[in-house]
Amino acid sequence: MELRPEIITPPPGPKSLDILARASKLAHRRLGPQQSVPFVLDRKDGWFLYDVDGNSFVDMVTGWGSTVLGANHPEVAEAVLAGLRRYSLENTDYVYAEPLLTLAERLIGLAPASLSRVAYEVSGTEAVETAVKLMREATGRPFVIAFFGQYHGESYTGQALSAQRSDFSPRMRHLTPGYLHVPFPHPFRCPFHRETATCDGTCVVDYIEHHLTFHLVSPDEIAGVLLEPILGEGGVLVPPDPFWDALTDLCRRNGWLLCLDEVETGFGRTGQMFAAEHWGVEPDLMCLAKGLSGGGLPLGAVLMSDAVAEAAQAVNTGGTWAGQPAACLGALAALDVFERDDVLGNVRRLETIAERCLGPLGDLEAVGEVRIKGLYIAIDMVTDPITKTRAPHLARAIHDRMVQRGIVGIEDGVSHYRVLPALNMDPELFEWSMHTLADTVREVGAEGDGPHR
Ligand SMILES: Cc1ncc(COP(=O)(O)O)c(C=O)c1O
Repeated sequence: MELRPEIITPPPGPKSLDILARASKLAHRRLGPQQSVPFVLDRKDGWFLYDVDGNSFVDMVTGWGSTVLGANHPEVAEAVLAGLRRYSLENTDYVYAEPLLTLAERLIGLAPASLSRVAYEVSGTEAVETAVKLMREATGRPFVIAFFGQYHGESYTGQALSAQRSDFSPRMRHLTPGYLHVPFPHPFRCPFHRETATCDGTCVVDYIEHHLTFHLVSPDEIAGVLLEPILGEGGVLVPPDPFWDALTDLCRRNGWLLCLDEVETGFGRTGQMFAAEHWGVEPDLMCLAKGLSGGGLPLGAVLMSDAVAEAAQAVNTGGTWAGQPAACLGALAALDVFERDDVLGNVRRLETIAERCLGPLGDLEAVGEVRIKGLYIAIDMVTDPITKTRAPHLARAIHDRMVQRGIVGIEDGVSHYRVLPALNMDPELFEWSMHTLADTVREVGAEGDGPHR
């Protein structure tokens, strides 16, 4: 039987509208049918979301990249439930339990060889917070270099480090200073006016070395560099290969630590277990969350080198809920599934399908770029292919129509439409979804700046 979504009542249906209206009076922020996903979740299973009005949707959000093996993967769910029955909730900073050790050994075995110690956290935001504390303590230096377009969470540090859109972190930056933002290395909109065909990303490293540290902050005040190895929320920007050698060389010469935020790229999203593996990068620290959970319970972690751990012994990490034994057991079960079912092999198979279905869209005037790395996929929409002016309204139009067609992806006001499917998704369902996406982009592109809804 073909797996397909089913739209019985075009969203938002009456039950969804009612719940959203009531919730709007209680939630910090108003909710309504104009919100990103115009329905209310009833349940979630495998590769599908079900709303309270009887509709089902292909899940291309996966809890923002958390349910990497689909929702309720039976082995992950079983491991988590058994873990909860056995360990309940525990503050493992104080009362240790063996699943933390077993998972730490497994993570260190998988991660780049430079990483040898683990600090558990609950979320990606906390992993980033902890990484910044460790970087500053280990070096005794205050500044951290970050990149435009990145997203690191909603805490003060997370928002101050993030630079997706200036209005996403209002009245925030001056309260948590110490971050030096530079452009993300990507040829499509190179701010140094290098040609897309020839920009190799080293212009950014050159800017850091010969401009930022010459005019603004001296290298010996900088703790290190914190970046997403592939920019996710910023539109799946993959740095050109030469960037990495240039960056790691600059870090080495200045005693800067390199911290990779693999919260979203980690655990197979880009076709390797960690995106760092695409370039053989050996970071000093690495932030993990989302896929680490296997879709079980919330779990974050910072992996670090011996040197960082030793130099930053004074830093407190974790908290009451960090490193729950049940969450660790879910993560271990997920890693077993990754190996047994060759999930990375499936990612590469689906990547080929995405390239075949979406690649040709790059020729449309309204499409700036189609970016695909494993199952990290974005279509960057523009109002003009020459000026590359961002077109968030076109991305929004694609999203709205996709929802009506039974596919829920991601559009968050930047200028691209993204999908984050489960890594073990059925190829036939994935291919149907990619064809539907391609048709939708063609439709929206053909209408240009006209009415879309
Ligand atoms: C790269 C990256 N870092 C950090 C975070 C924050 O993680 P969390 O939402 O688990 O706090 C996110 C979330 O989307 C992310 O994509």
